[in-house]
Amino acid sequence: MEKQEQLYEGKAKRVYRTSNPDVYWIEYKDDATAFNGEKKGTITGKGELNNRISSIFFTMLKEKGIENHFVEQLSNHEQLVRVVEIIPLEVVVRNVAAGSLAKRLGFEEGTVLAHPIVEFYYKDDALGDPLVNDAHIKLLGIASEEDVRYLEELGLKVNEVLRPYLAERKVMLIDFKLEFGRTRDGKIILADEISPDTCRFWDAETKEKLDKDRFRRDLGNVEEAYQEMLRRIGGKEHV
Ligand code: C5P
Repeated sequence: MEKQEQLYEGKAKRVYRTSNPDVYWIEYKDDATAFNGEKKGTITGKGELNNRISSIFFTMLKEKGIENHFVEQLSNHEQLVRVVEIIPLEVVVRNVAAGSLAKRLGFEEGTVLAHPIVEFYYKDDALGDPLVNDAHIKLLGIASEEDVRYLEELGLKVNEVLRPYLAERKVMLIDFKLEFGRTRDGKIILADEISPDTCRFWDAETKEKLDKDRFRRDLGNVEEAYQEMLRRIGGKEHV
């Protein structure tokens, strides 16, 4: 497989065409942003750590029957993925109150929710990725009601696999964001990444944050936290 021209550069990744029309080449970057791009920085080694962490999660999810775009890890900071058309919704699943939920509804951070909840945010930088409900999604023509229910179901399914997997590794899965895409034949599959950039992970005992909140809130030891997450899920030192 050959890397061809760059198609897109996002906040955390670059996407390249390949000689196979059904496969993209992804390069993970060390750049970090938060608060819709207002806070910018670099986390040394983040590209490599997220690529490796996400590759492990997507491989495990595939083994558990959750279809996704991951094809193979190429190097420490590169992977191949199936081409999909990304649905412009961020599907957020929450087990414990934190971040915007704690702020919006007044929950104390760390409050375990009575049951997991799913939220949808419209992926639009200019609007600041607003929270949207079923009616908004319908108005915007993003997805059918049936597809929205399916995304919700898939979000909860991923949670049911990830939560015990992480609990065994002494990590609490607080919340996470997923993205989905449509394949050429119209099937909805899991895409994007699952990493400390897109999830909140807390050490189960000390409640220490092992995710991007360390960058967002200037808590320090950001790279160390990402490294610790890779270690917990069994990442080898070098691929
Ligand atoms: O900020 P908020 O509490 O809504 O974030 C919920 C979850 O979604 C967190 O795990 C966060 O890392 C993730 N997220 C993300 N990308 C965004 C917004 C949130 O990965 N643009």
